[in-house]
Amino acid sequence: MSANETTPFVEAKGARIPLLGLGTWQLRGRACARVVQQALRLGYRHLDTAEIYDNERAVGEGLHASGVNRSDVFVTTKIWPSHFAPGELERTARECLVRLRLSEVDLLLLHWPNPQIPLAETLGALGRVKHDGLARHIGLSNFTVALIEEALQATTEPLVCDQIECHPFLDQSKLIAACRRHGMAVIAYAPIARGAVRDDDVLARVGAAHGKSAVQVCLRFLVQQDIVVIPRTSKVERLAENAAIFDFALSEQEMAEISRLAQRDGRLLDWAFSGQPKWD
Ligand SMILES: NC(=O)c1ccc[n+]([C@@H]2O[C@H](COP(=O)([O-])OP(=O)(O)OC[C@H]3O[C@@H](n4cnc5c(N)ncnc54)[C@H](OP(=O)(O)O)[C@@H]3O)[C@@H](O)[C@H]2O)c1
Repeated sequence: MSANETTPFVEAKGARIPLLGLGTWQLRGRACARVVQQALRLGYRHLDTAEIYDNERAVGEGLHASGVNRSDVFVTTKIWPSHFAPGELERTARECLVRLRLSEVDLLLLHWPNPQIPLAETLGALGRVKHDGLARHIGLSNFTVALIEEALQATTEPLVCDQIECHPFLDQSKLIAACRRHGMAVIAYAPIARGAVRDDDVLARVGAAHGKSAVQVCLRFLVQQDIVVIPRTSKVERLAENAAIFDFALSEQEMAEISRLAQRDGRLLDWAFSGQPKWD
């Protein structure tokens, strides 16, 4: 991908989401702004942040410094579950926009489910944020199949995605199928398993056949299924590697072989911290 090419995207309920975005968890301050700016100059058109990452200000700085038109960049942020009460959610969304120095985000997500606050109330507040013009689209993150279905019952507003942990080492087939059934996009976080895919023999071997790295094969495996990927890197030189995934294709046989790496217990993120429900 280069700045002259347009990033492929997926469509979900009226949202056009670039298939490649830059993850920004743990990137902070000047270093974060610099990576964001470089990514946009290289052709990235999608940025993923969250109020809890404490970097929205830096992400906004990188975006504004890049010289890329605001309307050409898809910006996502997320509301932390402790701010899901109606009133508080709207206030938090406004604070996110102030930090980002934007009048609206393209996508605003509920970061994790919060069983302490009725989902219908939270979704009502999220819908008001959209109607007030602060977010073009709204969606979910870390919602299970059952919770996606509860959310869809509780609002008439289109929920365009579920952002979930998704990489070749984790079996997310049920959740992906549920998103497809409901016309929602899947956005894969930790798409390169926090860097671990680099050391996988199967991915490396498939990569060698295409002149690509194991990381590129991993990302290709996901985008070839129309799954949006948001790999993070703090290293400018890795931005180009992670973006060069649209100039080759994996065969059916290669896709099947990579699919066999998935484990039901392949999750990297520890759910215990939040007391959230287990998946299905
Ligand atoms: N919704 C949620 O609850 C949630 C949860 C987690 C993450 N996210 C989002 O998803 C994004 C991505 O997930 P993640 O940051 O957890 O993990 P990730 O993108 O799978 O992996 C990031 C790690 O991989 C390394 N890396 C990047 N490119 C590489 C390459 N080409 N070769 C080798 N190593 C490479 C990075 O190190 P270097 O910096 O050294 O390159 C970093 O340590 C986050 O940044 C965040 O925006 C959302």
